[in-house]
Amino acid sequence: MSLRVLGIPGSLRGGSYNRRLLEAAREVAPDGIVVEIFDLGGIPLYDADLDTDGVRPEAVERLKASIGAADAVLFATPEYNHSVPGVLKNAIDWASRPAGRSPLRGKPVAMMGASPGTIGTARAQMHLESVLLATLARPLPHPGVLVGGAEQKFGETGRLVHESTRLFLRSFLEELSAWTRKVAAGRDATPESSGDPRTQARDRQAVFDGRMAHEPTADHPAEEPVGAGRD
Ligand SMILES: Cc1cc2nc3c(=O)[nH]c(=O)nc-3n(C[C@H](O)[C@H](O)[C@H](O)COP(=O)(O)O)c2cc1C
Repeated sequence: MSLRVLGIPGSLRGGSYNRRLLEAAREVAPDGIVVEIFDLGGIPLYDADLDTDGVRPEAVERLKASIGAADAVLFATPEYNHSVPGVLKNAIDWASRPAGRSPLRGKPVAMMGASPGTIGTARAQMHLESVLLATLARPLPHPGVLVGGAEQKFGETGRLVHESTRLFLRSFLEELSAWTRKVAAGRDATPESSGDPRTQARDRQAVFDGRMAHEPTADHPAEEPVGAGRD
């Protein structure tokens, strides 16, 4: 059965490099990996008064259902003022509720980004990883795909023409596929998937407390930092 990857571009711009990066991922995906793209255009600003079953905006329900149905989610984020654009953060906020049973909880996720600048959204991806950890998603332990100098790499037609980036993207999807299988099999070595009821209880408590559930503890020391800026 094919692995279903939901690609979410963090930009609404018609000629978005980040959407095009996801389109390139769709093109280069190896057999057995299908990339679908979800546009965030219809997602309103988060309003807790509307975040109730039967009241939630239709586009938000579609977003949550699409994330729920996907095997993994691949975010392509622009960098705005050294961070994640509000459009993307807002969508993740909607998708992250209710905290204990959101479609992002336990979901394998990965991130990439493109910008005309030289460091290809490295700072935004560092912030995005923190946000995703707060949702109890399972970020791929990989530095991420950083596409700098986007104007040259996408060419005049808007298609990703930079061959080594295309090859890198393909191997990144293979890594995401392997990570997704690991998470599904409970072999990702993260606290929740360890099967240890003490850590599961700690996770649940952390959600209720509004704390990050991946704080190091005696049982689970801090992991190597991932997701920092590499080009
Ligand atoms: C409000 C705003 C803030 C930006 N801040 C940054 C930034 O901090 N770093 C950066 O590399 N590019 C920055 N840019 C440029 C974006 O990287 C560029 O517009 C990019 O093409 C946006 O992604 P998109 O093509 O997918 O829409 C900023 C652009 C906007 C509109």
